[in-house]
Amino acid sequence: PFTPLIDGFGRRHTKLRVSVTDRCNLRCQYCMPAEGIPLAPKADLLTFEEIARLVRIAVAAGIRQVRLTGGEPLVRRDLPRLVEMLAGTVGLEDLALTTNGVLLADQATALRSAGLKRLNISLDALDPVVFQRLTRRDDYDRVLAGIEAARSAGFETIKINVVSLRGVTESEVLPFGRFARDTGREVRFIEYMPLDATHEWDRSKVLYANEIRQALAAGIMPLRPIERPTGSPAAEYEFIDGRGRIGFIPTVSEPFCAACDRFRVTADGQARNCLFSSTETDLRGAMRTGVGDEGIAELMAASIRGKAAGHGVNLPGFVQPLRTMSAIGG
Ligand code: GTP
Ligand code: 5AD
Ligand code: SF4
Repeated sequence: PFTPLIDGFGRRHTKLRVSVTDRCNLRCQYCMPAEGIPLAPKADLLTFEEIARLVRIAVAAGIRQVRLTGGEPLVRRDLPRLVEMLAGTVGLEDLALTTNGVLLADQATALRSAGLKRLNISLDALDPVVFQRLTRRDDYDRVLAGIEAARSAGFETIKINVVSLRGVTESEVLPFGRFARDTGREVRFIEYMPLDATHEWDRSKVLYANEIRQALAAGIMPLRPIERPTGSPAAEYEFIDGRGRIGFIPTVSEPFCAACDRFRVTADGQARNCLFSSTETDLRGAMRTGVGDEGIAELMAASIRGKAAGHGVNLPGFVQPLRTMSAIGG
C-alpha cells in the first residue's frame, strides 16, 4: 500500500537491518577502542514497540527480510521478546540475527522458540590467543559454546563471519578453511571496511578476498564458485571436492553496491540508506511527534530515493562516515 522502496538507480530494497543497541561486550580492534565509545542516551533507543511498528511499515512497503544487529544485539535485554513480536509480522519472510556469540549459549533456544530463522555468528580467529588480541576480551570459549548451542537449538544455516586484517589474521585462514570442511558451516571472510571508531583504517590493513582464496587453494585445495543468492554480499565458493563452503565479502576490492537491496535503522531510530551514507533520516523523532504510518513510510522511501550509487571507498576524496560500525549497525 505504501510507496515502493526503489532508489534513483532502480534498486528495489527488500532487506532491512535493524540495530537494537549500540553497546557491545567485545572491543574488536577494527571497530572500537579499548575504552569504548560514547553511547546513545537510553531514552533515544527505539522501544520494541517502535521497532515493531517500523518493521510493519517497512514490510508493507516491500521489505521481505529483517536482520537484527548491533552493537551486540544480545546485550539488549529481553531480545527474544522483540523477536517474537517481529516474527508475527504479516508478509515478513525471513528474520535473522548477527551476533558475536558471547551470550548465545544462554539465549539460542529462546531465540529459536521466539521465531528467529537464521543466525550469523562473528568469530575472527580460531586461535584463542589471536581472538583475545583482536577482541581484547577473553570470551573465546563462550563464542564456541554459543555456536554449538545454536546448532543444538535447531538453527540450520549458521554462517561464520570472519573479518580479516593484514598482519593479524593471516594465520587463521587455513584453520578456518578446515573448520568449514569439518563442520559444514559456511565461513565468510570479510574485508576490513573504513568504519572503525578511531579512523585507523588503511588500505594496507585490508587482507583482500583474492589473497585469502589463493592461500586456501595453495594450502588446502582450489575452490570453485557456486551460485550466489541475489543480493547477498558474499561471493560463494566450495572446495572442488564439494566439502566446505567459503564466502567472501569483498566490500573494498569488489564492491557489490550495484546490487544493493539494503536499508538500515540505527538503534536510536535513524534511517540510513547505506553503511557509508553521510545523512540520516530521523524516524524516531517522527514517530515520537505523532507522524502516522503513511508519513513514516514516505520518510523511508525518501531516504532510499537519496541513496548514492556506491560507497565511494575507492574514489578520491572518500570521507569515512562519522558514525562507526557499532553505532550504525553491522
Ligand atoms: P545474509 O542474509 O546471511 O546474506 O546476511 P548478511 O551477510 O547480509 O549479514 P551479516 O550481518 O552477516 O553481514 C556480513 C558482513 O557484511 C558484515 O561485515 C557486514 O557489515 C557486511 N555488510 C552487511 N551489510 C552490508 C552492506 O549493506 N554493505 C556492505 N558493503 N557490507 C555489508
Ligand atoms: N569492517 C568489516 N567488518 C566489520 N564488522 C564490524 N566492523 C567492521 C569493519 N570495520 C563486522 C563484524 C560482524 C559484522 C556484523 O560486521 O565483525 O561480523
Ligand atoms: Fe549498499 Fe552502501 Fe553497502 Fe554499497 S556500501 S552495498 S550501497 S549499503
